[in-house]
Amino acid sequence: MQNSAETLALCALSEFQLSRLSQAVEGLTADQLTWASGYLAGLGAEAKMSSQAKDTPLMTILYASQGGNARSVAEKLASNIETQGFSARLVSAESYRSRDLNKEKLLISVISTQGEGEPPESARELFKYLQGKKPSKLEGLKYAIFGLGDSSYEHFCQAGKDLDRLLKALGARALVDRVDADVDFQTCTEAWYGRISALVEQELSSRQARVIPLQRRTETLTRYDRNNPFQAEVLESRRITTSDALSSVHHLSLEVDAASLVYQPGDSLGVLFHNDPALVEEVLALTGLSGDESVTLQDETLTLSQALGGKLELTQLHPKVVSRWASIADSAELKAISGNNGQLRMFAYEHQFADMLHAFPARIDASALADLLQPIQPRCYSIASSQGAYEDEVHLTVTTLQYHAHQRDHLGGASGYLTRRVSEGGAVEVYVADNPGFRLPKDADTPTIMVGAGAGIAPYRAFLQEREIRGAKGRNWLVFGNRHFHRDFLYQTDWLKYRKAGLLNRISLAFSRDSEERLYVQHRLLEEGAELYRWLQDGACFYVCGGVSMERSVYHSLKTIVQTHGGLSLNAACEYIEALRSDGRYLRDVY
Ligand SMILES: Cc1cc2nc3c(=O)[nH]c(=O)nc-3n(C[C@H](O)[C@H](O)[C@H](O)COP(=O)(O)O)c2cc1C
Repeated sequence: MQNSAETLALCALSEFQLSRLSQAVEGLTADQLTWASGYLAGLGAEAKMSSQAKDTPLMTILYASQGGNARSVAEKLASNIETQGFSARLVSAESYRSRDLNKEKLLISVISTQGEGEPPESARELFKYLQGKKPSKLEGLKYAIFGLGDSSYEHFCQAGKDLDRLLKALGARALVDRVDADVDFQTCTEAWYGRISALVEQELSSRQARVIPLQRRTETLTRYDRNNPFQAEVLESRRITTSDALSSVHHLSLEVDAASLVYQPGDSLGVLFHNDPALVEEVLALTGLSGDESVTLQDETLTLSQALGGKLELTQLHPKVVSRWASIADSAELKAISGNNGQLRMFAYEHQFADMLHAFPARIDASALADLLQPIQPRCYSIASSQGAYEDEVHLTVTTLQYHAHQRDHLGGASGYLTRRVSEGGAVEVYVADNPGFRLPKDADTPTIMVGAGAGIAPYRAFLQEREIRGAKGRNWLVFGNRHFHRDFLYQTDWLKYRKAGLLNRISLAFSRDSEERLYVQHRLLEEGAELYRWLQDGACFYVCGGVSMERSVYHSLKTIVQTHGGLSLNAACEYIEALRSDGRYLRDVY
C-alpha cells in the first residue's frame, strides 16, 4: 500500500481495519485479487440489502417452534428463497417485535401447536399483541401460514388456525391456503416450498433486486436433525431407581461431537428409535404376514419387517388408524367408537395397535398395512447435562414406560429402546431439539425456583451444572417430587453436593407415597408459599417441568400463594402470573 495517510483520508475503513485487510490479501495473485474484489462487492450488496430489509422488510419468515420442527421447516424455506436470489429475514417469534407487523409486506409464518391447542411459548407475546386491545391494522400485509400439529390432539394445528384468523381480522390477506400439517409434515413441505417460491417470485421480483448467491467461505459444519441424525455412542446406561421402585428410571450418557451437536441447558434431545422386535413379531402374527413382503414407503422399498421395525409407529396409536381399522375389521363396535370424537381419542390413547388387533382381528395385506400405519416419530427427552460441564456428552433421564393392560404387557417405544434394547457401547441416532422457551435467566444473579416431578428433574441438573461452571451468583431452589425417598430420589448425590457447595440454597421434596396422605410438589409449594412469594418478589424465575396435569396443579398453587401472601384478589393473582410469563419468569417444559 502506498501513502497510507492519503489512503486513509479517502477510505471508509479505520486504520486498524485497513491494516487487517492488507494482511488478509497479502500474497494473493492478481487473479485472486480480482476475484476477491468481486467477492467483496457481492458481500457489500448483500449487506446493503439486509440493512434495507431491516428498515422495511420485504419478506419475513417468522417461526414459532417448541421442539425444532417448525424451525427446521422455516430454515429450509429461507435457504430455498436465498437460492432463488431473494433475501428473506428469518426470525424466531421470541425475537420478533410485534409492532413491526404493520411494516411487513410479506410474512411467511411457520408455527407449531403446543399444550392444548396453544402456540409455542416463543409466540405468546405475538399472540397477546394480536389479541390485545390495540394491534395495528394490517391491511398492507400479505401472508402465508404453515401450521404443524398432530391430528391425534383435539385442537389440531390450533395455533396456525388462530394466527390465520387473527391476521385476517386485522385486514391482512392470505396469499395461499394455510397448511395444517400432521406429524408426517415432511410429506407436504416440498409442495409448500414450491408454492411459496412461486408466490415470492410474483410478489418480489418487481420490488427487490436479486442477490446473486455467493459462494461463502463458511466452514460447513454438519447440522444434525431428525432427517440427518447423529450416531451417538452410549457411554453409560445405569438404573437410578432401586429395583423395588415402581418406576424404572435410567441415567444415560451419550457421546457426541461437541463441534456439531451444540446444545444449551433447557434443550431436549430428539431420539430416533426402533420398535421392539417382539412387538413386530406380534403384529405380523396377528395380521398373518411373514414380514418378508416387500413394501414401499415414500420412495424407499424395504421388507415389511424392516418397515415395522424402524419406520412405522406401533406404540402410539393414532385415531386415524383406529377409524380405518374399524372399516377393515368391519366392526360395529369400533365404528361406533370412531363415530364419537372423544371416545375415539380415548381409545387411541389407551390402546396400542397390537391391542386393537387382538380385540378386532382382521387380515390385511402388507402394502395396505404399511399405508395404514403412521410414520414413526422421534421422541424428545430433556437434556440432563450442561455442555459447559460435559463438552462431548449428553445425559438423559429416561423413565421406562411399562404397564399391563388389555391382557398384554406394554412397553414404551423409545423408553423401552433406550433402557432395554440399547446397551453401553451401542449407538443411538439423535439430534438437538432446541427449547428456547426454557432457558436459564440471562442475568446470573437472578434467583431460580425449579419445580420438577419424576424425570422432570432432568433439565435442572443441566441448569445447576451450568450455573456452577459459570459461577452464577443467583440463588437456586429445587422442588422435586416422586414416590419414595429411598427408591426414587433421582440424582440425590448431585443435589447433596450442590447443597454443600452452596449452589443449591434450598431443596423441597415431596414423596407422595411415603406418607398416609398423598403429597405432591404443588402441596409442598403451598406449605412454603411465604418463602416462595418472597423469592418471586426478589425477581426469581419460576420453572416447571413434567406432565401437563402437574403443571396445571402447580399453576393453581402459585395462584393461591400469590393471593395469600401477596394479598391479591383472584384476578390480580392471575395478572401477576401472566406478567411473570410475559417477562419470561414463568417457564414451562411440559409433555
Ligand atoms: C406437549 C405437546 C402438546 C401438543 N399439543 C398439540 C395440540 O394441541 N394440537 C396439535 O395439533 N399438536 C400438538 N402437539 C404436536 C406438535 O405441534 C407437533 O409435534 C409439531 O410437529 C411440533 O413442532 P415444533 O417441534 O416446531 O414445536 C403437541 C406436542 C407436544 C410435545
